[in-house]
Amino acid sequence: MSVLVNLLSRGSNLASAHGFAAWLGRRLALRNPRVTIAPDAVISPGALISPRNGAIEIGSQSVISHGAIIAGNVRIGNDSSVQNYTLVVGYGAPDNPAGLVQIGNDVRIAAHCMLIAGNHRFSDTTKPICEQGIEPKPIVIGDDVWIGGNVNIIAGVTIGAGCVIGAGSVVTHDIAPMSVAVGSPARVIKKRGERIDSHGE
Ligand SMILES: CC(C)(COP(=O)(O)OP(=O)(O)OC[C@H]1O[C@@H](n2cnc3c(N)ncnc32)[C@H](O)[C@@H]1OP(=O)(O)O)[C@@H](O)C(=O)NCCC(=O)NCCS
Repeated sequence: MSVLVNLLSRGSNLASAHGFAAWLGRRLALRNPRVTIAPDAVISPGALISPRNGAIEIGSQSVISHGAIIAGNVRIGNDSSVQNYTLVVGYGAPDNPAGLVQIGNDVRIAAHCMLIAGNHRFSDTTKPICEQGIEPKPIVIGDDVWIGGNVNIIAGVTIGAGCVIGAGSVVTHDIAPMSVAVGSPARVIKKRGERIDSHGE
């Protein structure tokens, strides 16, 4: 299967791809009835779109690139993109937003990011962590946000509209709209259009 996908994808820019590869990506994603994809969204055949117990919606003109994984309860708006090898995981059922990942319109998420809307529970020291279940917490990404490469967005975080998140950041707290935030943990270094200072105080 991966050989076939490579052959079909070779030399094509998926953001502008039409034809068989784009058709195949859509068909693979839509095998599950809880996946809804706008007719003009572009899904790489090398992406994995898997709603598990939840539901996935992908809006008009959005692009999911090769190697990206969209799993569980996830809603992606219009004209947004998820680049190569980025992992977006929501928890819960379609009618339960407790572990939903909600991505707005005009959002750009670069390669190798992680947005996972739940943490392992670990309060019980008598049991292995892997037996304590997942605590779901929603992740919300507002409209017109740019998330750089290798960013990790921790469960429960809201990133406001218009934000820029620098490459390699770990976002552990909410980020107010129109902020530029960088680092681990991510700190606001400026607001778009106005300078604060270089260390976010
Ligand atoms: C955040 C970013 C957009 C730069 O924004 P900017 O407003 O031009 O910021 P500056 O370059 O003026 O940097 C401001 C300060 O933040 C620091 N900084 C910038 N990006 C940083 C990052 N990703 N992590 C940690 N610190 C960073 C700079 O070193 C500088 O610190 P200083 O004042 O102590 O020297 C850019 O650094 C970045 O991370 N781009 C993402 C690139 C990427 O992932 N592309 C993927 C393909 S889309």
